[in-house]
Amino acid sequence: MASIIKLLFTAFGLAALTGVAAAGDMQAGRQIASAQCRTCHGLDGIAQIPVAPHLAGESEIYLQTQLKAFRSGKRTNEMMDVVAKDLTDDDIANVAAWYSSINITVEMPE
Ligand code: HEC
Repeated sequence: MASIIKLLFTAFGLAALTGVAAAGDMQAGRQIASAQCRTCHGLDGIAQIPVAPHLAGESEIYLQTQLKAFRSGKRTNEMMDVVAKDLTDDDIANVAAWYSSINITVEMPE
């Protein structure tokens, strides 16, 4: 029993440490992606321009961390700075939920 409680505390502690926000609303994220991100990253998360990365299947925590870094100026890119500055925490959680939910398959070269 004590070890289960300890495990739960560890899990929650880790969530707090890594800054995991409440799971975003995927459909709300789809709307944001469709309105603000698709030109460069695609609605499906496959990049439309060579300088933009694919976002499909990227982890939710990584997407959130990078979007917050662009918003705060910790990470800079002339295109992303403009996009990220008006995103709320909810927008970030939602759009991260959308792109991380897309299933991808990979094929290694022979
Ligand atoms: C005008 C084009 C453009 C638009 C629109 C745009 N992005 Fe980007 N995004 C980029 C580019 C270019 C980069 C690569 C930045 C770099 O080289 O550091 C990038 C990087 C990112 C990254 C970092 C990915 C990684 O692998 O580190 C995330 C996350 C991201 N964009 C999310 C979004 C989201 C979410 C939206 C919509 C709200 C959006 N972007 C809209 C061009 C765009």
